[in-house]
Amino acid sequence: MSVSETALPASATVGVIGAGTMGAGIAQVAARAGHRVRLFDADAKAVERGRAGIEKELRGLVAKGKLDAGECERTLARIAPAAALSDLADCALVIEAIVEDLEVKQKLFRTLEGIVRADAVLATNTSSLSITAIGAMLAQPQRLVGMHFFNPAPRMKLVEIVSGVQTDARIAERVAATAQRWGKHTVFARSTPGFIVNRLARPFYAEAWRAYTESVADPVTLDAVVRDCGGFPMGPFELMDLIGHDVNLAVTRSVFDATFGDRRYAPALAQVELVRAGRLGRKTGQGIYDHRDGAAKPEPQVEPGADPVARIVAVGSLGLATPIITRLEAAGIDVVRVQGQAGAAGWLEIGPARLMLSDGRPATRRAVEEGHRHLVLFDLALDYATTPRLGLAPADQCGSAAFRTVCATLARAGFACSRLDDAAGLIVLRIIAALVNEASDAVAYGICTADAIDDAMRYGVNYPRGPMAWAEAVGLDYFARVLANLREHYGEERYRTSVLIQRRGWTQRGFRE
Ligand code: NAI
Repeated sequence: MSVSETALPASATVGVIGAGTMGAGIAQVAARAGHRVRLFDADAKAVERGRAGIEKELRGLVAKGKLDAGECERTLARIAPAAALSDLADCALVIEAIVEDLEVKQKLFRTLEGIVRADAVLATNTSSLSITAIGAMLAQPQRLVGMHFFNPAPRMKLVEIVSGVQTDARIAERVAATAQRWGKHTVFARSTPGFIVNRLARPFYAEAWRAYTESVADPVTLDAVVRDCGGFPMGPFELMDLIGHDVNLAVTRSVFDATFGDRRYAPALAQVELVRAGRLGRKTGQGIYDHRDGAAKPEPQVEPGADPVARIVAVGSLGLATPIITRLEAAGIDVVRVQGQAGAAGWLEIGPARLMLSDGRPATRRAVEEGHRHLVLFDLALDYATTPRLGLAPADQCGSAAFRTVCATLARAGFACSRLDDAAGLIVLRIIAALVNEASDAVAYGICTADAIDDAMRYGVNYPRGPMAWAEAVGLDYFARVLANLREHYGEERYRTSVLIQRRGWTQRGFRE
C-alpha cells in the first residue's frame, strides 16, 4: 500500500492534547499539512500561549520569505482551541503531549476512549513511558501507538513510531504514513526503554562522563576532539549544557531504572553532583561551562610540538587512517613504505616514536606488549583526510621529546594534536564502539531494523554517520576487538559485547546481510 492510501487525508481532524512545548509544535505541523486541529490543555492559558507561540513562529517564517502570508493565515485559522475533551469527538487522530506521568496518561486515554469514534487512532508523544503500559487499561489497546516527535517538532525531521505489545501493526503504519505526509522521516520501534534515539544515545554521554571522570582531558578538549574528529555537530559536554543536566540525567535514570539497573546505563556521579549544585547548563548560567556574561571561553588543548622530521617510515597498512600518510606526503614529508605483517595493524615511525591507531588497549600496556617504549596512540576519526585535529595519547614510557616530534610532524600536515591521557579507547573510539554495541543489541533484540537505527540517529540527533554505517566503514571485527579490550581492561559488564557483533564479527559480515 502506498503512503497516500494509508495516511490520514488532510480533511481528517487532528486533536492535540497538551499545548506545551511539544503539543504546540505538533499542532503546528498538523495544521501546516492541511488538517483542522483542535488543541486542548487542562490549563486554558496554555492553549492561548501555545497558539500565540505558533503564530509568532509562522509570522517569523513569513518575514523571512519562507512561508506565503496567505498560507500562514490559513494555517492559523485551522487551529481551534478545544474548551473540553468532548470537543475532540470528531477527531480521526488524537495526539497526547501532556505531563510525563503514566497514571495521568492512562486516565486521559480511558476518558478519551469514551469520547472519540471507534475508528479514531490514539497516539502518545511520551519519550520514556511504556506504550504497552499506557494502553493496558484501554478497551481497544490495539489503537494506541507511540508517536515520538523531537524538540522542536516543526524543525526536527524524525518521528519514532512505537508499538506496544498490543498495538495493531496497521495502526502503526497508518500513523507513520501520516507523519510522512507531514514531511517527517519515520522509523518503527518496539516499545522499549528509551525507544531508539534516547537509548542509543546513552553511550555518547556515558563514555564522555567516563573520560571526564578519568581526566582523559579537560571537557573543552574532549568536546573539540569529539566534534572535530568524530564529526558530531556538538561535543557531549556542550550538548548536555544545552539540553540541561537535569533533563539529560532524568532520561539516563529512566533508561537505567527501566532496565532493572543495567550498569551499562548507570548515571554518572559527576553529573548527579552538577545537578545537586544547580549547575544545570545554559539555563542556569553554569553547567560544565560558565555561560554567564563575560565568562572567558576556554580553548581546547593543542600540544605545541618540537623538532619535526622530514622523513618517516610507514610500516604495513594504516587501514582507514591511510589518509594521514597522504596528508603528510602532501605537506612535503618523505614517506618510506615498508611491508608489515599480513593482517597486523600498521604504524608510522616518526623519529623515535611509533604512531598507531588505538584498539581499545591503553598505550602503556601496548608499549610493553609490542616491545616499543615510545608508543603513541591516535583516536578514531570520521575522515582522516579532512579532520583538523587528532587526539593522541603517549604511553607512560614514551619520552616527551619523542611525543613532541610526533605532534610537530603531524602539525605540518594540518593536524592540531590534542593530548589525551592514556585511557583505554581514548574518547571518540570508546564512544563509537559503545554506540555500535548498543545498536547491535537493538537489532539483536528485535527493537528495530539496522536501517531504522542509522536514520533515527541521523534525523533525530544529527549524527554525521549512524552506528551501522560506522560498523560497515571500519569493520565489525575491529569493534569486537575494541570492546573485548575495554571489557578486559575495566572488568565491567558495561562493555559486554553484543551477541550480534560477535557472530557477525567472526565472519566479517555486516549487520544488514
Ligand atoms: P510541557 O510541560 O511543555 O507541556 C505539557 C502541557 O500539558 C502543559 O501545558 C500542561 O498544562 C498540560 N497538561 C498536563 N496534564 C494535563 C492533562 N491531564 N490534560 C490536559 N493537559 C495537561 O511538556 P512537553 O515538554 O511539551 O512534554 C509533553 C510530552 O512530550 C511529555 O510526555 C514528554 O515526555 C514528551 N516529549 C517531550 C520532549 C521535549 O523535548 N520537551 C521531546 C519529546 C517528547
